[in-house]
Amino acid sequence: MEQGKTNGGEKAKRLRPFIYWTGGKSKNMFYIARNYPRREFTKYCEPFLGSGVVMLDVIEKYKIKSVLANDINKELINTFEQVRDNVDDVIERFKKMEDEYIALAEVEDGQKNFYYNKRKLYNEVIEGGGEDLDDIDIAVLFLFINRTCKDGNYRVNKQGYFTTPWNERILTHSTLNEDDLRDVAKALHGVKFTTASYKSCMSFIDEDTFVYLDPPYIYDIEPQPKFKSISIPYCTEPFTTERFIEFKEFVDKVHDTGASVLVTIPSREKDGEKDKVRELFNEYRIKEIGVGKPDENGNKSRFEFAISNY
Ligand SMILES: C[S@@+](CC[C@H](N)C(=O)[O-])C[C@H]1O[C@@H](n2cnc3c(N)ncnc32)[C@H](O)[C@@H]1O
Repeated sequence: MEQGKTNGGEKAKRLRPFIYWTGGKSKNMFYIARNYPRREFTKYCEPFLGSGVVMLDVIEKYKIKSVLANDINKELINTFEQVRDNVDDVIERFKKMEDEYIALAEVEDGQKNFYYNKRKLYNEVIEGGGEDLDDIDIAVLFLFINRTCKDGNYRVNKQGYFTTPWNERILTHSTLNEDDLRDVAKALHGVKFTTASYKSCMSFIDEDTFVYLDPPYIYDIEPQPKFKSISIPYCTEPFTTERFIEFKEFVDKVHDTGASVLVTIPSREKDGEKDKVRELFNEYRIKEIGVGKPDENGNKSRFEFAISNY
């Protein structure tokens, strides 16, 4: 295992994540990387992939023989696969779509209407329509929506339709760095992607594996009476307390294989959640780390648990 690969002593160019994601770890990489296992590993598994920022960091820093990346979001995983396999077509078609959008910068509501038309088309794809679109078109649509929706926030309603509004920012220049995307495409060669529940990753995991788990935050919908119109992060099946307990059982099974496991979970005071998480993972090493921007007094206002079996 070799850390910080360099070319002839020069610092290697960093791989840049290309997806904005709710709960994405790009701003917290410093503390996550400090909590990677010290022992050797040759396999890497990330069952809740999201933007893939941690996977890209691990691929870049270590010599990994085998990577499994999974997320329940089919369109997200398709986007990674298309970037890996067809990066030139993705770039060409994305630029075409973005150019059309930029050309509407001066038209009243032009970009807004364009966004909502593309969101409608995206929801047709989710519904099983969009027959004229191939997997590359769907990836391009995903990338476009991801870059023009509000805060890259992936929210769906109860039926699974994407509900995030337009970001209300007029775009006048391209958001895509072609070289960065090509570098990512190269790095993804050999990565196996799957779209399933995180539990399906179990068969890949053994004592040579580093497993990084970043599940959705606990989201108990029952007490909220307006469930019908609610918009839920990521997918139609929110991570309720019950599902979270199942998740803990999964972590135990991963531990039993001899793998190194790192879990990150927001540490929130709400409903005694913090104490519950501490209690649930009391056999593991737990660190609480300040994340995000410091407040005016320089104190961190958000915290996360980094839980590991090492
Ligand atoms: C907190 S986000 C991960 C963010 C990621 N670490 C990053 O840096 O972008 C949680 C992810 O879990 C996925 N997810 C939700 N439920 C899942 C399940 N049951 N199995 C697998 N993935 C799931 C969501 O689609 C989401 O991408």
